[in-house]
Amino acid sequence: MKISLSNDAPQSVVADWLVVPASGKKPLNEPLLQKLDRTLGGAIAAQVKEESFEAKRGKTLQITLPLKSRLRAKQLLIVGLGDALSEATVRLYGVKAGRAAQSHSSLAVVAPSTDPSVLRALADGVGTGAYRYTRYLTGSRLPKKQLSKAGILLERKPSAEQKHAVTEGSISAEAVNFARDLVNCPPNDLTATVLAEEARAKATAIGIDCKVWDKKGIEKLGMPLLLAVNRGSHEEPRFIHITYKPKHAPEGMPRVVFVGKGLTFDSGGLCIKPAASMLDMKCDMAGAAMTIATVIAAAQLALPIEVHALVGSTDNMLGGNAFRPGDVYPSRDGKTVEIINTDAEGRLVLADALTYARELKPDYLIDHATLTGACMVALGNYRAGMFSNDEQLLEQYRQAGETTGEQFWPMPMDEELRDELKSSIADLKHTGSRLGGAITAALFLKEFVGDTPWIHLDIAGPAFLDKVQGAQPKGGTGFGVLTGLQFLRALAKGRATSA
Ligand code: BES
Ligand code: MN
Ligand code: ZN
Repeated sequence: MKISLSNDAPQSVVADWLVVPASGKKPLNEPLLQKLDRTLGGAIAAQVKEESFEAKRGKTLQITLPLKSRLRAKQLLIVGLGDALSEATVRLYGVKAGRAAQSHSSLAVVAPSTDPSVLRALADGVGTGAYRYTRYLTGSRLPKKQLSKAGILLERKPSAEQKHAVTEGSISAEAVNFARDLVNCPPNDLTATVLAEEARAKATAIGIDCKVWDKKGIEKLGMPLLLAVNRGSHEEPRFIHITYKPKHAPEGMPRVVFVGKGLTFDSGGLCIKPAASMLDMKCDMAGAAMTIATVIAAAQLALPIEVHALVGSTDNMLGGNAFRPGDVYPSRDGKTVEIINTDAEGRLVLADALTYARELKPDYLIDHATLTGACMVALGNYRAGMFSNDEQLLEQYRQAGETTGEQFWPMPMDEELRDELKSSIADLKHTGSRLGGAITAALFLKEFVGDTPWIHLDIAGPAFLDKVQGAQPKGGTGFGVLTGLQFLRALAKGRATSA
């Protein structure tokens, strides 16, 4: 979709949908709404009163246009901004606009501010709001139209900086939507091999390096835990490494490595999941999708930071050769691991990927994984748990999440629970008891990161939703991409000003 910026007047703009912001308890105090209300002979005032509409954050009111409307837009939507104009609120405003217009051809959205960061958030909101997954629909189920043109309206002629911000927003939205496409793709079509091909195609298209190891390659590379999880599968595993190095990186810019859990399907293995819990397990590569999409976008945005994406990918299946509870495997790191429950496969794949990551000597190591049901029990469906060995990094990431509106919550890594990972026959057991399951998972990962500043984001809840919630769609959400990019942007800015 093309998102452009202009100073077309809302009254005369030609579009299927016109979307206008409103704020505060008395939305009609705003000059633009008053002007539109006059154009429509009082239709807005009447409906606002009739429905006691207050412009609360994210609340919408579709105006029934009079038969002889003097607007040139076919539909009019008012969206509340609440009382404060944060980036997250503007993003939600954009999402509501994009969502309303997703089955039509064109949309015009009035910008609530001229600030470039607001325009960027508005553009990524519109772009992600218009998202739908239609790949498997045919005939009458295929939408007749899809949003192809969105215009953001300013009062004055847009500046180069403002236009650039909108382009940045479009790139971020594309990245989020790419991650969603990968997550939504059914597990019979999105195998580890296909995931790696998708990653490579995107990386090649923008001219950045992407290395992929097949099963033989992984054996040589040395990732025994990834191979253990893959044993029950007829599909080959893949290990993916995408590298973005900026052309003109200022001196002292940090290197950031993202790691993603890439389980294209998680049956639980021999410790098989009940049918209902298995249904959505195509989402178990959401961390991988997020990781790939983020490095691609970082390159497209030409951020002045070196960024790597690492993904260990396989499905977790059953079969005569499947790994068993009681098995012991070495890890890339050398530590031996006693398998307790084959459904705790994610941390095994991550352990080897984190060891590889450490070898790249990152300044920041960030992993995203749909790791534990326990994290969802703790925080619900809409928040990711954050675990870190570095207070400052945790705070930086928390702030990035605050800015984007993606929700995170810091979790403890209580040393008492580390005892649960003690094995009598190997260096480590890979699971503890049910209690504090998200924490013992994080403690297991911690064994493989050494003293690298590291943050683990357990996205089991927000990566995949069974209904639309706020700015997030049903199904794959692309959760984490926006915050990852915001973190990188803030890092670049911070270093640039402190240097
Ligand atoms: N992929 C699951 C976690 C998950 C659950 C993600 C629900 C998204 C939605 C993970 O591999 C898993 O099965 N974890 C187990 C760990 C347990 C066996 C220690 C869990 O959480 O039950
Ligand atoms: Mn599992
Ligand atoms: Zn899993």
